[in-house]
Amino acid sequence: MATGNSSNRGQWGSNTGFILAAAGSAIGLGNIWRFPYVVGENGGGAFLLIYLLCILLLGLPVMLAELTIGRYSRKNPVGAFESIRPRSRWKIVGFLGVITGICILSYYSVVAGYTLGYIGKTLAGNKDSYQSFSSNPLLAFSLFITFIVLTVLVVQGGIKNGIERCSKILMPILFFLMLILIIRSITLDGAGKGLVFYLKPDFSKVTGHTFLAAMGQAFFSLSLGMGCMITYGSYLPKDSNLLLNGVSVAAFDTLIALMAGFMIFPALFAAGMDPKAGPSLVFEVLPKIFSLMPGGNIVGASFFLLLSIAALTSTISLLEVATAYFVDERGWLRKKSVWFIALIVLLLGIPSALSQGIVPWLNNLPLVHIDFLGFMDWIFGNIMLAVGALFLAIFIAWIWKTNTAINEIKKGCPKFKYVSPIFSILLKFFCPAIILLLIVFLIIN
Ligand code: PHE
Repeated sequence: MATGNSSNRGQWGSNTGFILAAAGSAIGLGNIWRFPYVVGENGGGAFLLIYLLCILLLGLPVMLAELTIGRYSRKNPVGAFESIRPRSRWKIVGFLGVITGICILSYYSVVAGYTLGYIGKTLAGNKDSYQSFSSNPLLAFSLFITFIVLTVLVVQGGIKNGIERCSKILMPILFFLMLILIIRSITLDGAGKGLVFYLKPDFSKVTGHTFLAAMGQAFFSLSLGMGCMITYGSYLPKDSNLLLNGVSVAAFDTLIALMAGFMIFPALFAAGMDPKAGPSLVFEVLPKIFSLMPGGNIVGASFFLLLSIAALTSTISLLEVATAYFVDERGWLRKKSVWFIALIVLLLGIPSALSQGIVPWLNNLPLVHIDFLGFMDWIFGNIMLAVGALFLAIFIAWIWKTNTAINEIKKGCPKFKYVSPIFSILLKFFCPAIILLLIVFLIIN
């Protein structure tokens, strides 16, 4: 697999290697932790429908655009803009991506730390609430730090073959375990109400906010809008099929998110819990399912172990973007870069780690009335990714020109000519217009 050093830029060992790594980046807490709580907060079925449209009409074109500019330039996001429009302001968009990645990593690692902690908690049959777990400062911080160090160790060595090989075995196991949990969840008494909530669109609950959340979730889940797929695309060989790669990653990612919904909502309604619980949702519902299964402790602990690994393949990609920037553009050593970024992430993550019950005012911020972690997630995991995707779409479609992009994609996928007019319209007009509209809506409100 690749290392991020431009003087010695690697390439993916195989196309499967790329798909695994890119799907590894896409599939993570975004699918299993974030997707259910955002669906819950936004009224269920109608959100689901809008989300799927966002994946198809916004996510796919932007995914393809990122992979294309990455493979073409063979650079990190800042370098990619710089190589196409040297000494222009466009590289700021690349910078924005690097910063957004660091900010996402700061709170993502806090949650990933919880999943790590829940392995032991579930195995030990500890029935304490999420609240009492997350409000233990020593525990929260040691898990948070452990997760960052794990990420650093992997990225520091260049991404190891080991991770590629591991995900080949572990991701199918995660998939299988989720199937079992879905069966348990939908066969619980009262599960039907959950299925109705999840699948039956209630358009009376749709507002501009619903669209904004669905769009943000689509970008977040597909790892778009901050240059992650630019970086991963930069390690692809010239004859790779970008269309097939992009579609495969998006399809896997969406399948896992849909499955997470089937796992969570039936059990949630069966237990009479509130779908609007926010970021704590999954940590409150999943233990309920495990406690109603034979061997639930072991099933639960295995699930959280696999989820931690899925989160790790995502944090690796978040750290890799910033690392590739420092290594390629600043000439820093890989080791110095990763530890430097890790230190920033650690400092930035402190308020998020404190916001889940340790410091009361961080739990309920003045004005916005959400906790700090949820606030960071809204700003960086939603808005900033959308802003990044907006500028990327404008850059590719209007500055670099859609035709250049289409020619690049056709290398390795001659059949792209059949869908290129759709791609062109989506990237030139639809994506910029819709994203801009939603951002303006947000500012007005
Ligand atoms: N897509 C990852 C997930 O769903 C999170 C992520 C976002 C990773 C942006 C990289 C870039 O968990």
